[in-house]
Amino acid sequence: MWQYEKKLQYPVRISNPNPALAKLIITQYGGPDGELGASLRYLSQRFAMPYPELKGLLTDIGTEELGHLEMIGAIVYQLTRNLSIKEIKDSGFDAYFVDHTTGIYPQAASGTPFTAAYLQSKGDVITDLHEDLAAEQKARTTYDNILRFCDDPDVKDAIKFLRQREIVHYQRFGEAKQSGWNVEVELLTEPLKIKKSRFKPFAKDGQPRLYKL
Ligand SMILES: [Fe+2]
Repeated sequence: MWQYEKKLQYPVRISNPNPALAKLIITQYGGPDGELGASLRYLSQRFAMPYPELKGLLTDIGTEELGHLEMIGAIVYQLTRNLSIKEIKDSGFDAYFVDHTTGIYPQAASGTPFTAAYLQSKGDVITDLHEDLAAEQKARTTYDNILRFCDDPDVKDAIKFLRQREIVHYQRFGEAKQSGWNVEVELLTEPLKIKKSRFKPFAKDGQPRLYKL
């Protein structure tokens, strides 16, 4: 279960509305590398994770990602307050507005709605940890891309905080992969033994064989 604290993990105080920017940042709410996918990925993977320490790590990070989802929702909400119809039209926010007014909806910057196809929960330690490492870097890249379109210091401040947390999560997943659990992981990833192979990598003289493509 969870206990809710009625505050954001990091403050979001945006003075100037900017619907064009909101349209980009919504991707970290419901896009392919967004915070909703991150929280569902870790909070789902943890059930089948055999090691209590890793289960705890996934629970911690998955919970924090929910806090980040909340921050992104607050950013998008604050960027779209008190807009005139002209501002909505001129900024290109009109398509989103027609579908959702200024409600916060989980979608990508492209408008694609959130889908569970953005994440995986494979029930295998090494597979899930690698998925998580890649996911954190993809989220970091998305924040880098958002920062390329963002010159408002109020927004930059919160986005930079979120970007930094992705790096910390990447490091924590990396430590998990490097730690003593690797011994067990090696057993899980032992290559399947192929009884009869048509391909012999070496000729009788010990030289590697070459096969045509
Ligand atoms: Fe993260």
